[in-house]
Amino acid sequence: MTSALFRYLEQLQGQTPWGDFLDAGTGVNSALWSTALPLRSWAGVSGAAGHLAQVKNRLSDVSTAEHRLLLGNWTDPRLLAGEGFDTVLADYLVGAIEGFSPYFQPEIFRRLRPLVRGRLYVIGVDPYVVGAAISDAERLVRAIGRLRDSILLLADEAPYREYPAEWTARTLDQSGFEVVSARRFPNRYHEKWIHGQLDMAIRRLGKVDPGLAQPLATRIQDLRYEACEVCRREGGLRSGCDYVIEARVSGSN
Ligand SMILES: C[S@@+](CC[C@H](N)C(=O)[O-])C[C@H]1O[C@@H](n2cnc3c(N)ncnc32)[C@H](O)[C@@H]1O
Repeated sequence: MTSALFRYLEQLQGQTPWGDFLDAGTGVNSALWSTALPLRSWAGVSGAAGHLAQVKNRLSDVSTAEHRLLLGNWTDPRLLAGEGFDTVLADYLVGAIEGFSPYFQPEIFRRLRPLVRGRLYVIGVDPYVVGAAISDAERLVRAIGRLRDSILLLADEAPYREYPAEWTARTLDQSGFEVVSARRFPNRYHEKWIHGQLDMAIRRLGKVDPGLAQPLATRIQDLRYEACEVCRREGGLRSGCDYVIEARVSGSN
C-alpha cells in the first residue's frame, strides 16, 4: 500500500517526468514505491549490506538492468561521482546518518547537491524522544523511543537521531538548495510499530550487562502492555509529525 507521504510526492511531482531516480537512503518501502513509478532509471544507495540484501530480495520481481543497488557511504566522495539524477529522494536518510557517519548530517545535502538535476524530496520525522509529552499517547511514544535508544547505546550501537523540519529546511538553504514546499503530516503509531521498536530492543539485551538486562526486559514487557492497551483504546498513538520538503538546486528552473 502506498503511504500518504509517497502519494503526496506523486502529487508534488505532477506531470513532470521522474527521469533518472536516486533513492539516496534506500529501504524496502521507498524502493518498492519508487521502482513502480514510470522512470528512466533507478539507483538505490544504502550504508548497510543487510538493508541492501532486504531490498534486493523484495525487488527481485521488478528488477531490470536499469535498477542499480549500491552499498556505500555518503562520506565517500567516489560514491556516484560525476552522475546526475532528475529526482533524488532522501527518505528518513537524515535521521539514520547517526548510525553510519555520525556528525555528517549538516553535510549531507551539500554532498547530494551535485547529483541533483531536478528535484530533491526529503522525508523525515520530527524528533520524538526528547521534550515533555502533552498526552498519554505522546508519553508512551517517547518512553518507547527512549528505552529503545538507551538499550542500543548500552549494546554499543548508535541510535538514529532525528532532526526537525526547520533544521532540514535551514540546512537545505545553507547547502545551495531552494525550498519549494514543506508540509507536516501528523503521526499515528500502531501496534506494529510498538512491537517493532521493542523487539529491536529485546534483540540487543544479550549485549547488555546482565545486571541491567533483566530489569530492562521487565520494563519492555510493561511498556508493551501499556502502549498496546492505549493504542487499542485510542485507535493508535497520536504523536508528533513526519514531514516532506521539496527542494531544487538554487538558481535552477
Ligand atoms: C531508515 S533507512 C531508510 C528507510 C527507507 N527509505 C525505507 O523505505 O525503509 C536509512 C537508509 O539510509 C542509509 N544511510 C544512512 N546513512 C548513510 C550514509 N552515511 N551513507 C549511505 N547510506 C546511509 C541506511 O543504510 C539505510 O539504507
